[in-house]
Amino acid sequence: MTARIIDGKAFAAGLRARVGAAAAEVTAECGRKPGFAVVLVGEDPASAVYVRSKGKATLAAGMESFEHRLPADIAQGTLEALVDRLNADPAVDGILVQLPLPKHLDESAIITRIDPDKDVDGFHPVNAGRLATGLAGFVPCTPYGCLLLLRDVLGDLSGLDAVVIGRSNIVGKPMAQLLIAESCTVTVAHSRTRDLPEVVRRADIVVAAVGRAGMVKPDWVKPGATLIDVGINRTEAGLVGDVDPACAEVAGAMTPVPGGVGPMTIAVLLRNTLVSAARRGGVTLDAAI
Ligand code: GUN
Repeated sequence: MTARIIDGKAFAAGLRARVGAAAAEVTAECGRKPGFAVVLVGEDPASAVYVRSKGKATLAAGMESFEHRLPADIAQGTLEALVDRLNADPAVDGILVQLPLPKHLDESAIITRIDPDKDVDGFHPVNAGRLATGLAGFVPCTPYGCLLLLRDVLGDLSGLDAVVIGRSNIVGKPMAQLLIAESCTVTVAHSRTRDLPEVVRRADIVVAAVGRAGMVKPDWVKPGATLIDVGINRTEAGLVGDVDPACAEVAGAMTPVPGGVGPMTIAVLLRNTLVSAARRGGVTLDAAI
């Protein structure tokens, strides 16, 4: 058996196109484009690349992009004052402060300062709480992108056994919450899990988000299972995921690295910004977004 390779790049392009069409409707109804503000502190080259591609994708979807580049030695209070200004700015529907921040800054205090109703990253504790309790809010982009791919491949997820490997606030925990809400039976595995191969062998769905190249092996995988690989590991052999590509011999479907989950993240960020603009402008969106 050879797994279906899930084309995240194509799915993300479709999502971006749907968001672009809906953004045009919101613009017509509200008299202004949805606005996305991104804040980059310092010169980290990887972060600069992310921020540039977010800005380009925002403009391509017919939204306004506001970029704020600040020096690495900025004071906590100055950064907080910028967040306050963006919170109060009616042209801004979504705010993202690129992480990681330089060491002298209190990351948690900055995230908590963002208005939860503009927190398109879904990192604010209020949004984590909303997700955990089934209230409308913003869901972190990467796990939401994984869920969209899973629904596309499997349809109804209810009753399926899901294993999430990794318990970060950005991927593992929100992923587990999303799968619980889909009525999966969810196990969250992590570095202290005993007999991880045996835990993974029970799963119909595996979401791997640990950052260890090729960790999930073919003999861990239940035949026909769906594998979602969130790992991005830079190795001598290039960019590789957390799932050994040889798992394609056993799985029913799996995401490649690159071209799987990666392209979904920015597409969901645009989607969250659109949803924010629609909510703030009192516009009802098509449920398919
Ligand atoms: N750094 C890398 N990915 C992300 C992301 O999705 N959001 C933020 N805020 N920072 C990041």
